[in-house]
Amino acid sequence: MSLILGIESSCDETAAALVTSDREILSHKLAGQEAEHAPFGGVVPEIAARAHAEILTPLIAAALEEAGKSLDDVDAIAATAGPGLIGGVMVGLVTGKALAMAAGKPLIAVNHLEGHALSPRLVNPDLDFPYLLLLVSGGHCQILRVEGVGQYRRLATTIDDAAGEAFDKTAKILGLGYPGGPKVEALAREGDPGAVRLPRPLIRSREPHFSFAGLKSAVVRAYQSGEHKPEDIAASFQQAVVDCLRDRLEKAVQDHGSCGHLVVAGGVAANGPIRTMLERVAEDHDMAFTAPPNWLCTDNAAMIAWAGAERHEAGLTDSLDFVARPRWPLDPTAEKARGAGVKA
Ligand code: KG4
Ligand code: ZN
Repeated sequence: MSLILGIESSCDETAAALVTSDREILSHKLAGQEAEHAPFGGVVPEIAARAHAEILTPLIAAALEEAGKSLDDVDAIAATAGPGLIGGVMVGLVTGKALAMAAGKPLIAVNHLEGHALSPRLVNPDLDFPYLLLLVSGGHCQILRVEGVGQYRRLATTIDDAAGEAFDKTAKILGLGYPGGPKVEALAREGDPGAVRLPRPLIRSREPHFSFAGLKSAVVRAYQSGEHKPEDIAASFQQAVVDCLRDRLEKAVQDHGSCGHLVVAGGVAANGPIRTMLERVAEDHDMAFTAPPNWLCTDNAAMIAWAGAERHEAGLTDSLDFVARPRWPLDPTAEKARGAGVKA
């Protein structure tokens, strides 16, 4: 059994956690930066990096204290090394390196996306490789076949925006503030999902990918027309996302098989109607279904510690000269999707 300290700082959440390879979460601490970014309607990278630098060290101390552990008890230090906003990533990675060096412990440089991808295994001991993963976050929207630790085959990605980004932009248009996902979901509960006609980009297309940019523009037009209630726009938008995700997943299962287990991860996986739809897809295809609890879907350090634990068990550690990566695909062999440069 090993004990891993996890550090996360790739976007606007500063987090530290202590997790064992036996799936015990001894502590997890998280500090959001909503107040700092709220006036700008989105995350400002420079502000994020400074906030991480201020809060991370006390947060790590608090995580150790809550767990009743010291750095000596830890077997390895796992820090997010990318992808993400590079200033924040560097704060977390350099802190992880300093602690590893001072305590004489190995460093594990974790791909944030692998943190999301493996997080369902932290809560479900019966989730074996391979499994089919829908990874839906603020920056990514992908379907992957997870074949093992560090082994991913990307089956689909977005050719423009990620699903979470579309939620955030819709929230901005509707004046709901940031982060948008939970706010759009709450407003959508009061609206009619059939009220506003919105496109389902790439639905039933032969290429396997996602697209949400056209949907976002349609939301802008619907709002500007002045003909619709905000709750109806929110509900109709959310339904369009549900329909797009379902269609692309069905295609992935059809083209590549089901793996017998459907898994969802990433911040958008906290969305109720999306989870309900996924449960149905899994049922229709005789697949088991695993979704982490909401707090483990959005960014946190327990998933980074867990990915660290999985890598540590596999004998995978990194040297102290590991360089932070703004981009870091899980499947580097995947073909570039049409149009996708930045976000795939
Ligand atoms: O995984 P995550 O916390 O950070 C990234 O790695 O990007 O995902 C954040 C994204 C944001 O776009 C946020 O609006 C979205 O997840 N999100 C949701 C919900 N909760 C968070 N989207 C829809 N419904 C939610 N309940
Ligand atoms: Zn994330």
